[in-house]
Amino acid sequence: MKSRYQRSAELFQRAQTSLAGGVSSNVRALAQPPLYFRRASGACLVDVDENVYLDFTLSQGPLFLGHSPPAVLDFVNQAMRDGQLYGAQHELEVKLAEQIQSIVPCAELLRFCNSGSEAVHAAIRAARAHTGRDKILKFEGHYHGWYDEALVSAGPSLVQAGPREAPCPVLGSDGQLGSSGANVIVRPWNDVGLLRQTIARHGSELAAVIMEPVMCNNACIPPQPGYLEAARDLCTERGIVLIFDEVITGFRLDLAGAQGFFGVLPDLATFGKAMANGFPVACLAGRDYLLQPIADLQVNHSGTYNSNVMVTAAAFATIKELQRLDYQRVHRLGEKLMSGLKALAARYGLSVLAQGFGPAFHLAFTERDSIVDYRDSLEINSQRNSEFVGAMLDRGIRLLSRGLWYLSAAHTEADIQRALDAVEDIWSAG
Ligand SMILES: Cc1ncc(COP(=O)(O)O)c(C=O)c1O
Repeated sequence: MKSRYQRSAELFQRAQTSLAGGVSSNVRALAQPPLYFRRASGACLVDVDENVYLDFTLSQGPLFLGHSPPAVLDFVNQAMRDGQLYGAQHELEVKLAEQIQSIVPCAELLRFCNSGSEAVHAAIRAARAHTGRDKILKFEGHYHGWYDEALVSAGPSLVQAGPREAPCPVLGSDGQLGSSGANVIVRPWNDVGLLRQTIARHGSELAAVIMEPVMCNNACIPPQPGYLEAARDLCTERGIVLIFDEVITGFRLDLAGAQGFFGVLPDLATFGKAMANGFPVACLAGRDYLLQPIADLQVNHSGTYNSNVMVTAAAFATIKELQRLDYQRVHRLGEKLMSGLKALAARYGLSVLAQGFGPAFHLAFTERDSIVDYRDSLEINSQRNSEFVGAMLDRGIRLLSRGLWYLSAAHTEADIQRALDAVEDIWSAG
């Protein structure tokens, strides 16, 4: 019998001899079965076997306006008629910078780059240049991209990580410089007492504290009440640069990002993903005195493709749409989905935990009633989750294998009901 995913399977097989592992990003190799897509619009995708999916992956988050929003694509096409890359400035990048300045509380100055990983790299460099210190404090389970120093303890095994209170920095990849973790102090997130102790002890060595203000990359963990504020105060007291990595939360949790949503101002913030609805652009934004050394050319931040016309136009048009968007509606839809999932789990006697926020939340198969840090998230039954994601895919609902659900402005009440119907179909069968 012909498989539902036959053409994708053939393409994946063929790709093995030209693309390493058949994919262009390691993260994509985790999705099973590997699918090839033909087109997408709104909240729906169509694969090469003509299967139609309701999409809750949104390409790992960027597509907050949904797939192929006409206002963005038209603006990009129009802008591209005039040119693509000047190796110099153009007016739209100034307009985009001003637009972001008017929205993002910490954005006194900005620089554009091509990916979240690059923006994080720039943020750490700017923090080191300003403080003259080398070390950074990051948190277990937080992902800040794939560059050497950032890819430390993003998903470590506990055998390697050791004690909760003072985990060893664990490298995420073969081929990373062995010393990549040498200047990285790792701690569990959401533990104010431990943060206070660590900063008391290491404050004078720390250039930066970097965190996802919501730990979206592992179980979508919200900050404990007062945690972000405490981090803010501790960094201020010791002259440490507080970096919010808003690559996921930026323009998604709120137009003004997590910093606007929670009302806590970092010194530097990184944005990507939702800022251009799928076009490859990111930015570093922050206090003027931290970006001034870049302005003075004391700190190198460069890039051939930075602020090219295509991505600048995409970001400008996306943010213009986002300025008109009813964020509360997306929050409400996501919350409705979360509570629907919980109600179904209760009906069918399953232990699940749905946590996070409407625009991005996590569904976990676990007995726990809350997950507050990375080590808690290790108690999730990931096998159960993989089976669930596969069963949903067979019913035309595309989810991320790691349990994160992304909502977009293109999702409707009917989509939420469709997803819940598919879940009920699976859970009612036992
Ligand atoms: C919080 C966070 N920071 C940084 C990155 C890296 O961004 P990019 O994949 O654009 O390099 C990601 C990617 O998922 C992320 O989730």
